[in-house]
Amino acid sequence: MYHCAIKEIVTKVEILNVELKTKSNRSPIEIIKSRIKDSESIIGKLIRKGFEVNLDSMIELEDIAGVRIICSFLDDIYEVANMIMKQDDITVVRVKDYIKEPKESGYRSLHIIIEIPVFFSDKKQPLKVEVQIRTIAMDFWASLEHQLRYKRNYGNENALEDSLRECADVISDTDRKMQEIKRKIDEI
Ligand code: GTP
Ligand code: MG
Repeated sequence: MYHCAIKEIVTKVEILNVELKTKSNRSPIEIIKSRIKDSESIIGKLIRKGFEVNLDSMIELEDIAGVRIICSFLDDIYEVANMIMKQDDITVVRVKDYIKEPKESGYRSLHIIIEIPVFFSDKKQPLKVEVQIRTIAMDFWASLEHQLRYKRNYGNENALEDSLRECADVISDTDRKMQEIKRKIDEI
């Protein structure tokens, strides 16, 4: 079921990208990635959140299906998000803007949790998908920071966390400057 939900969202995003490419001769979306949470992580999260471990409570989780959209510029993130959210078969469950309000770690991305109906032979099943939209630079940062999260007992994490937070600020500054330069180039 979640594979199908991902297919629907990825197709929607690909269609938007083709349209934008045709209209403006540039591609605001660089990469689309997707993943399904593995069963071990699903069970772990259900237990952590105090749910019973069964299929009914699994439907409550918002990130079993995940789609990540990597854009070139900051403005593209909001443009793509709005285009997805205004489609009339999509219900917006939640928007978490970690670009305007970065996480303690320095993490930045726009998260939209959406619900989409998937049509099977015997039923219409609404399914939630977590869509993370970020710039190339934010994605680069998140991949490295994610690696640190898996090496918790190294002993010198604090210094690395501080360095990563600094990098996140530099990246955020650079993303803003690149956007500004792009705007000026577009005006020429
Ligand atoms: P989870 O239980 O981790 O899913 O958190 P949540 O349900 O409170 O959602 P949240 O929006 O905080 O995070 C969802 C996802 O965003 C995570 O699974 C990661 O993919 C990503 N994410 C959030 N915070 C960080 C961070 O500090 N670093 C990195 N690398 N990724 C993050
Ligand atoms: Mg998650």
